[in-house]
Amino acid sequence: MFPKKPPMGFNTWNTFGENISDEMIRQTADAMVEKGLRDAGYEYLVIDDCWSEKQRDPVTDKIVPLKSKFPNGMKAVSDYVHSKGLKFGMYSCAGVRTCADYPGSYDHEFLDAKTFAEYGADFLKYDFCYKPEHADGPMLYRRISMALENCGRDILLSACNWGCDDVHKWIRSTAAGMYRSTGDIFDSFVSFRDIFLSQLAHTDANTPGCFNDIDMLTCGMRNFGNVASTGCTDTEYRTEFALWCMLGAPLMLGCDVRKIDDVTLKLVTNKGLLRINQDGECRSLFVAHEDCNNLRNVYARLLSDHEIALMFTNLCDDKGAAWFTPDCIGVTANAGKVLQLTDAFTGEDAGIVKEYKRVELDAHDCAVFIAKVVDA
Ligand code: GLA
Repeated sequence: MFPKKPPMGFNTWNTFGENISDEMIRQTADAMVEKGLRDAGYEYLVIDDCWSEKQRDPVTDKIVPLKSKFPNGMKAVSDYVHSKGLKFGMYSCAGVRTCADYPGSYDHEFLDAKTFAEYGADFLKYDFCYKPEHADGPMLYRRISMALENCGRDILLSACNWGCDDVHKWIRSTAAGMYRSTGDIFDSFVSFRDIFLSQLAHTDANTPGCFNDIDMLTCGMRNFGNVASTGCTDTEYRTEFALWCMLGAPLMLGCDVRKIDDVTLKLVTNKGLLRINQDGECRSLFVAHEDCNNLRNVYARLLSDHEIALMFTNLCDDKGAAWFTPDCIGVTANAGKVLQLTDAFTGEDAGIVKEYKRVELDAHDCAVFIAKVVDA
């Protein structure tokens, strides 16, 4: 499947790990609707690892949902998710076992794709653990691509090989709609900072149809759950969300959306930030001004309607300023033009930039603007 904009949704892994169930998925579906997340664009509800029995069915060879967690089977869960106007996502692995040691899809790709189609799945996250040594990684993603493309249902392939085998170079020749390019995120500033910075070398590898996935968001986790670490402040979650939006990365929520707090809900449904993330032109982010070893960069991205997203970052551990001049993005000093800014977080007018813009920022904070080029 070929998504035209970065996919948005929720995934169980960050908070729940193996503690998933029919009930928890239904409650999450309800919450996604009640809290307005579905209407903001978060459409996929994805069940990650640990959903199946430890062994395949000895007669059919199919993967079987774990009875104690999913007593009604997966089709019933999927039907419920669909009844809420959401899409349903499943998880498997290119190797013989999943990362948490459940059956993987190696050498069962067509059977499993058919099984996921029978469940009514719309999305498949496909991991990379327990790959037989002789097997070629890219070929395993080609196999599951082929199986999904021919399973009779539109299923978005979400590849997850953590950036191995130079994934940026070949993944767009498979049918993957998104692909993980980084190791696992944890709920800490350092974790999301390093994940984001690792992709500065690959900003051109994020395209419509095949989006660079830098992992599920930790926003609002408040250091509770499966990927807890040091936790983040609200300022840090704000910066995390803005970085993901600026890169044009898929937005998969990882907090417990049943209990999402107001600050996080406001953040992840922010219209200005989502407008940047979901911009139809899907252009690449670029560094407009580099400073402090990329820790105080200003990033820019051309948007539709001749607008430009600008993000001033301070990923340093102390206060400081990020700055740029309009010619950093191609507006020359003698052009007779200035930049008219709107604060992306608040929607408020943020004034004009003539020659220079400097934003003082607390440690780990950011500012995001939507700019227009207007006559001076
Ligand atoms: C890998 C993936 C994670 C998650 C776990 C599940 O580590 O990168 O996102 O899916 O496996 O075991």
